[in-house]
Amino acid sequence: MSSITRPSPGFGLGLRSAHYSAFLAEPQPVDWLEIISENYMVPGGKPMQMLEAIRASYPMAMHGVSLSIGAVAGPDLAYLRQLRALTERVQPLWVSDHLCWTGVHGRQMHDLLPLPYTEEALAVVAGNVARVQDALGRRLVLENVSSYIEYKQSAMSEAQFLAELCRRSDCLLLVDLNNIHVSAVNHGFDAMDYLDALPQGRVQQFHLAGHSDYGDHLVDTHDHPVASPVWALYREVLRRFGPVATMIERDDRIPPLPELLAELDMARAIASEVAVEAFPA
Ligand SMILES: [Fe+2]
Repeated sequence: MSSITRPSPGFGLGLRSAHYSAFLAEPQPVDWLEIISENYMVPGGKPMQMLEAIRASYPMAMHGVSLSIGAVAGPDLAYLRQLRALTERVQPLWVSDHLCWTGVHGRQMHDLLPLPYTEEALAVVAGNVARVQDALGRRLVLENVSSYIEYKQSAMSEAQFLAELCRRSDCLLLVDLNNIHVSAVNHGFDAMDYLDALPQGRVQQFHLAGHSDYGDHLVDTHDHPVASPVWALYREVLRRFGPVATMIERDDRIPPLPELLAELDMARAIASEVAVEAFPA
């Protein structure tokens, strides 16, 4: 079956303002960058200047945090207009956000809250995805969030929900392996079962990130290096899905760029090992 995902551009990083000067000073060994869409939704100003200067040298994906695709009221039309305008400036590889809701009655809580995985929620999200895809004129890529609660009403697993959503709305997936690990530990499910339920041909991107361990639960803080169970999951998804665009996502306690480049080299090394397993000499 031919895939509808875009070919992998390789290994990338999330672009953070602490690294603007490093990316402008000299070429960095990064195939592509992911920007946080909301950071560039105000026209003009220094962020947009930096973005345009760096975009001249690197392909970029756009990653949003405010779409609230699970909102019963549907996507905010003003936000969608801004998002579309940014896609026209950036010409991104793809546009992603999260499978979540972030508020009600127009209030934005800036938290990526999980949905109940029910037929009713599936209908709401599939309808919203269709509206977003119509507005953007492209497929939306949705990411699994980490979670700390589950709903007793859920009738299917998160991965089953994502697979069915892809089937109904023709969207794609950004699979965050750290989020799967965090949720698997917090809720006691097997991360391998989760990977097994993800649909072939729909995975556009992987996120690799770190978390904080509080003993009886993990929190998706994105302020640590990638942990060894997450590297193990990465090896597994490469075996299942082949080469998929991969990036290191660090959102807090941003280290100097060489530290993130070293983590990206680790991802490259694992991908090479898996490729050798698949096609031995
Ligand atoms: Fe992520």
